[in-house]
Amino acid sequence: MSHLLSVHGLKTYFETRAGLVKAVDDVSFHIDKGEMVGLVGESGCGKSITALSVMRLISPPGKIIRGSVEFNGEELTDASPERMRKVRGNDIAMIFQDPMTSLNPVFTVGEQISEALRLHRKLSRKEAEQEAIEAMREVAIPSPERRIKDYPHQLSGGMRQRVMIAMALACDPDLLIADEPTTALDVTIQAQILELLNGLRESRELAVLLITHDLGVVAETVDRLCVMYTGKIVEESPVTELFEEPKHPYTRGLLKSVPRLNETREEKAMRLNTIEGVVPNPTALPPGCHFAPRCPLKEPRCEEGEIPLYRVSENRSVRCVLYDEFESE
Ligand SMILES: Nc1ncnc2c1ncn2[C@@H]1O[C@H](COP(=O)(O)OP(=O)(O)O)[C@@H](O)[C@H]1O
Ligand SMILES: [Mg+2]
Repeated sequence: MSHLLSVHGLKTYFETRAGLVKAVDDVSFHIDKGEMVGLVGESGCGKSITALSVMRLISPPGKIIRGSVEFNGEELTDASPERMRKVRGNDIAMIFQDPMTSLNPVFTVGEQISEALRLHRKLSRKEAEQEAIEAMREVAIPSPERRIKDYPHQLSGGMRQRVMIAMALACDPDLLIADEPTTALDVTIQAQILELLNGLRESRELAVLLITHDLGVVAETVDRLCVMYTGKIVEESPVTELFEEPKHPYTRGLLKSVPRLNETREEKAMRLNTIEGVVPNPTALPPGCHFAPRCPLKEPRCEEGEIPLYRVSENRSVRCVLYDEFESE
């Protein structure tokens, strides 16, 4: 069976003065039509560079070194720049953490959504305005007939993100890449945006790659999770199983740092102390498992060589020697 998006063995490196940064180092994952997949890990682990590599938006000193990105059966890593513009305009859309950087402050949100729609469909000004109202309704912006005349700064952060989603949907994409779409928002607004994405996945069969540093965000929204650490996927799993039984020691640490409702002060203190140590310098990664220096279960063999991903069940894999009785990928 072929997937909507298949990323295989992707490597994106940056040549910096301080040394080579392997921002994305042999990353593989896939997304099916209408599926929501989470890409999770601490800041700097390579989530955004993975997404930008899929979109072919990496610029020097960054470079896609190797790997394949197949979308709807088409290889994108060697597609022409012109073809990539089409893919970005029609098939894959992306939204970011801060809508203010993508919205133009001098035009109303109605004008901006209309413009996005007119790029893709032949519409008169009047029709485009009507469609913009419909688009705002689809992303649950209240009183869209009135809101259409607002400028971006007149809207709340959550409403601005809804406008971005409406614009992203204008091209009727098959895949939406959402890079930390809720990071700047309050918890309740976060939940509403995630609910909106979930609804769109169902109503439009939209596939979503949801990128976040916060495991709490993805718990109830995504089907499958890929956990990243220093440029590599260290665990991949359906979300329920991952929360029930995280396997990689890094995932276990991350999971312990997810806040619970009504936690006590002691619980909070415990939580914030769960993963000791710091993420290693990306130009001086330790040999073997990159997490070993912080790992409470470290053994000598962890630092001896590259650790493969072990397939521990049909749909779960873990990059950790604790699972070396399983077959590696
Ligand atoms: N323009 C750049 N030059 C050098 N290194 C970069 C550049 N952009 C990103 N990186 C490095 O790539 C790694 C991954 O970055 P990124 O994908 O943005 O992380 P995340 O989105 O997970 O927070 C980081 O170590 C970062 O320092
Ligand atoms: Mg990022």
